[in-house]
Amino acid sequence: MSTKVIVVNGPNLGRLGIRQPDVYGRQDLEELRRLCTGWGAELGLEVEVRQTDDESEMVHWMHRAADEKTPIVMNPAAFTHYSYALADAAHMVGDAGLPLMEVHISNPSARDEFRKRSVISPVATGTITGLGFFGYKLALEAVAHIVNG
Ligand code: DQA
Repeated sequence: MSTKVIVVNGPNLGRLGIRQPDVYGRQDLEELRRLCTGWGAELGLEVEVRQTDDESEMVHWMHRAADEKTPIVMNPAAFTHYSYALADAAHMVGDAGLPLMEVHISNPSARDEFRKRSVISPVATGTITGLGFFGYKLALEAVAHIVNG
């Protein structure tokens, strides 16, 4: 049976392709979904890609992941920089013994001052930044490596 992995995308990532294409590229969320599902299948992972602009929804997804033992790949988007609620929820995923990989399409450290701090990184298994959609592939590989040993 393949391992289920949820790829969670935070606020404004539903606007991929339209939003600052110079920063985030021209591919949209549907393309990200298609790519992640395909990369997952190659790795023996059953990938579900989600997006929400709602902090509480994202927190609840973390609770469910911890309860149902589902590894997470997360692009927390702007929540990265200030959501202690999401950081606490991500901590619970780690406490459940599950990998939680943080991904950013851009390299936030090379951008605005407020993007230099991530409240998620301290509770993430690892963080991948600045590689565009390819970062999600690396994150899925990391999950497969961790869960399959
Ligand atoms: C982002 C970087 C964040 O600073 C920003 O708020 C996003 C996207 C990225 O993927 O590069 O929405 O997480």
